[in-house]
Amino acid sequence: MSFLKVSRLVTIERHIAEEQQYHPTATGEYSRLLRDLTLALRIIARDVRRAGLNDILGMTDSTNVHGETVKKLDEFANEVIFRAMDHGGHLCVMASEESEGIIQIPQEYPKGKYVLLFDPLDGSSNIDVNTTIGTIFSIYRRLDPSSIDDGTEEDVLQPGFKQVAAGYACYGSATTLVYTSGNGVDVFTYDQTIGDFLLTHEKVRMPHKGKIYSVNEGYYLRWSDGLKRYIDYLKENHAETSRPYTLRYIGTAVADIHRTLIYGGIFMYPADSHNPHGKLRLLYELNPLAMIIEQAGGRATDGYNRILDIIPTHIHQRSPVFMGSLGDVLEVEYYLSQK
Ligand code: AHG
Ligand code: MN
Ligand code: MN
Repeated sequence: MSFLKVSRLVTIERHIAEEQQYHPTATGEYSRLLRDLTLALRIIARDVRRAGLNDILGMTDSTNVHGETVKKLDEFANEVIFRAMDHGGHLCVMASEESEGIIQIPQEYPKGKYVLLFDPLDGSSNIDVNTTIGTIFSIYRRLDPSSIDDGTEEDVLQPGFKQVAAGYACYGSATTLVYTSGNGVDVFTYDQTIGDFLLTHEKVRMPHKGKIYSVNEGYYLRWSDGLKRYIDYLKENHAETSRPYTLRYIGTAVADIHRTLIYGGIFMYPADSHNPHGKLRLLYELNPLAMIIEQAGGRATDGYNRILDIIPTHIHQRSPVFMGSLGDVLEVEYYLSQK
C-alpha cells in the first residue's frame, strides 16, 4: 500500500519543465523564474525551522504600510525574495505586502516579461508561538511583452484572472508548496535531506461541500445580519447536512486555506463594522489563494463577486473574502443576499 497520491517521483523543477511543453512559445525564462523563487522559499523554510535558534523571533522597531508592527521574520523573508528575484532577468517589477510602493528591478539588471507579487510571511502573529506560517506568490505577464524597460504600477494592478501562476509555501509540520499555472493544483513536499520539493499530491480536487468553517468569530457582533444567520445555521443540529460544522481557525490564511483545500469547507474574512473591506489583501493574498481554490474546483468571492474579477485600483487594496468548497460558498452567498 502506498501513501503517496502520485505514481511518479517528480521534483518541482521537473514538473515545471514538463508543463512548459504544453506552451510551445515558452522560452525557459519562466522555468528559471520558478527556480529562483523556490530557492527563496527553501531559504525562508530553513530559517523558519531555525526560528528561536538564530535570534530571529520578536519585533523590529518599524511599522509597515498597513500599520502593523513588522516581525523580524517578515523583513527577512521580504529581503530573501527580493534578492533571489532581482537579478534573474525574468521580472520587470515586483510588489510585496511589506513594501510601500512597487519594487523596481535595480538599474544594473535586465528587465524581463513577468511581474511578481508576494506576501513574504503570512501569519506573522503565529511566528512566536511555533504555529504554521507561509509565503504566498502570484505571477503575471507584463502588459507590454516587448518592453525591456522598468515595469509600472499598471503592470502590478492587473485583475487576478490574468495570473499566469500562483502558489504558496506552508511551513507547518512539513513544508509544502502548492502550485498552479492554470492546469490544476499540485502539492509538493520539501525533503530537506535532498534539498528539493517532491510532488506528493497531483491535481487536487476539493469536495463539493465540507464540514468545517473557518473565521475569526470574535468579531461576530460586528457582522451583517445575513452573515450572523449563516454562522448560526452552521451550528444547528442536522445530521443529513453534516451540521453542526466544526470550527477551525489558525489565523494564518495560508494554513486555513490549505486545510480547506484538502478537507473542503469554507474560509471567511468578511467585512465588519470596523473594517468595511475586511483585512486580507487582494494582490498578495486573495488573488493567488482564489486561483488555487478555483483550480481545485472551489469558489472564491467577496460575497457577491468573483475575487479574480475585481479590478484593483491600489496595490495594497483589501477585500472581504469567502472561499472554499463550491457548495459552501454558494450557501453563504445566499445568506448574504437575504436582507
Ligand atoms: P500577515 O501575517 O501577512 O499580515 O497576514 C495575517 C492575516 C492572515 O494570514 C490571517 O488570515 C489573518 O491575518 C488573521 O487576522 P485576525 O487576527 O484578524 O483573525
Ligand atoms: Mn498575509
Ligand atoms: Mn505578511
